[in-house]
Amino acid sequence: MKPKAKTPSKLVAILMGSDSDWERLAPAAKKLTELGIPFQARVLSAHRTPAQLVAFVEAAPAANIGVFLCAAGGAAHLAGVVAAHTDLPVLGIPMDNPPLGGLDALLSTVQMPGGVPVASLGAGVGGPINAALMAARILALSDEPLAKRLVEFRRNQAQTVLAKDQALQKKLA
Ligand code: RP5
Repeated sequence: MKPKAKTPSKLVAILMGSDSDWERLAPAAKKLTELGIPFQARVLSAHRTPAQLVAFVEAAPAANIGVFLCAAGGAAHLAGVVAAHTDLPVLGIPMDNPPLGGLDALLSTVQMPGGVPVASLGAGVGGPINAALMAARILALSDEPLAKRLVEFRRNQAQTVLAKDQALQKKLA
């Protein structure tokens, strides 16, 4: 039997409006690495580098990118502009910047006009991690080994929590 041709794994593009977003976004990159998902991380702003952003998005299918993660704070237009230039899935991550604490970015991200879809994660520490996991779930629809790694991740996560519960019970006994 002819061996199945191995399709190269799709990449995740992690885009951020500013390098000031990176520290809070790094857990998403870490989670992708743990799951064996290749990624590119770029600082590309909808406002400050619009031409370079659009060029990157238009080149994405040829670069084997499968999902966009777009993190932005304040007037968070990054995910929306990316979604306007691609048919790939776009996940928006609202950054919890001062002075409004992320509610501004969250509302920008969830108020897209019909016809230009952006899926929004939550503002705060869970957002970047869940964005990585959501990207993994999307890619896993057509990547069986990755789907298995996600099953394993969820099993390990449950075991970690159960071990913490046991430790707490011991402490309280
Ligand atoms: C947004 O403006 C970026 O995503 C960042 O969260 C925010 C502030 O950017 P800096 O002024 O810190 O570069 O575009």
